[in-house]
Amino acid sequence: MQLAHTIAELNQALASADADGKRVGFVPTMGALHAGHLSLVKKAQELDLFVVVSVFVNPRQFGHGDDLTNYPRTLGVDARVLTDAGVDILFAPSGSEVYPSSGVEEISAGELGNRFEGASRPGHFDGMLTVVNRLFNLVQPDVAFFGSKDAQQLVLVSQMVKRQVANGDREPIKIVACDTVRDESGLALSSRNQRIARDLLPAAQTISTALFAGSKKPSKQACIEAAKAELDPKIRLDYIELVNPDTFEVVESCEGSRMVIAARVGEVRLIDNLLLGGFA
Ligand code: PAJ
Repeated sequence: MQLAHTIAELNQALASADADGKRVGFVPTMGALHAGHLSLVKKAQELDLFVVVSVFVNPRQFGHGDDLTNYPRTLGVDARVLTDAGVDILFAPSGSEVYPSSGVEEISAGELGNRFEGASRPGHFDGMLTVVNRLFNLVQPDVAFFGSKDAQQLVLVSQMVKRQVANGDREPIKIVACDTVRDESGLALSSRNQRIARDLLPAAQTISTALFAGSKKPSKQACIEAAKAELDPKIRLDYIELVNPDTFEVVESCEGSRMVIAARVGEVRLIDNLLLGGFA
């Protein structure tokens, strides 16, 4: 695996992909890698792509109190894990490589950026799209991989690429949605799980059991009631809703919808979702 810290090093490493004639698959991450991230890498490898993973803790997608300073940074371990996984390039840039003083294109997440996750994290999705756009421009992938766990992020990135391609602003990038990886209890893997107090873990686990329970019901009201009934009283629910998986518009019917949930367990805010009709 080639480790690139600068854009120059990235370009050098990417030149070898051209030589191999392989298409480039890109997995953007903020590091502290777990099996969820690695499932995206695996998916890229299954498609026989030259795999680039980025690790960059993007300051612009953290708001006040979002704890940028406490975000886990484990680059040494991440690099070993990615080497073992057979990744071709790890791009781990500094802040000044990603955000030069000359500025970068700012991307607005629009109205959807203010709803659900955006409502409790103002500016988060503008920052997320700005860095994803910047990384896409640097890596120039043919295919990019995102987890369905962050379903709103996935929709916003897909919409951004679609818009840019329609405007002739970029070559198409195929966005591949990857299934949520869960632990044996059903809890969706997340770097935030490390921060859940041990005694609150059973409560956190009721977030996914709530989704399972809700998914078995025929009407929206029954779905949401059944889900809420599963939630441990120690959980502070932020939202639970059914949305159209492609647009994130709120829908009134369960069929083909995505049930989305956000909740606080102690100080840790967790999100999860389920495509009704099976785990996604
Ligand atoms: P991060 O939280 O590190 O996640 C990187 C990718 O891994 C995202 O596409 C996310 O959806 C996926 N992922 C996380 N947990 C997962 C799980 N349990 N199962 C499957 N996939 C999972 O998301 C970000 O970073 C950032 O917003 C980023 C896109 C890198 C931009 O800064």
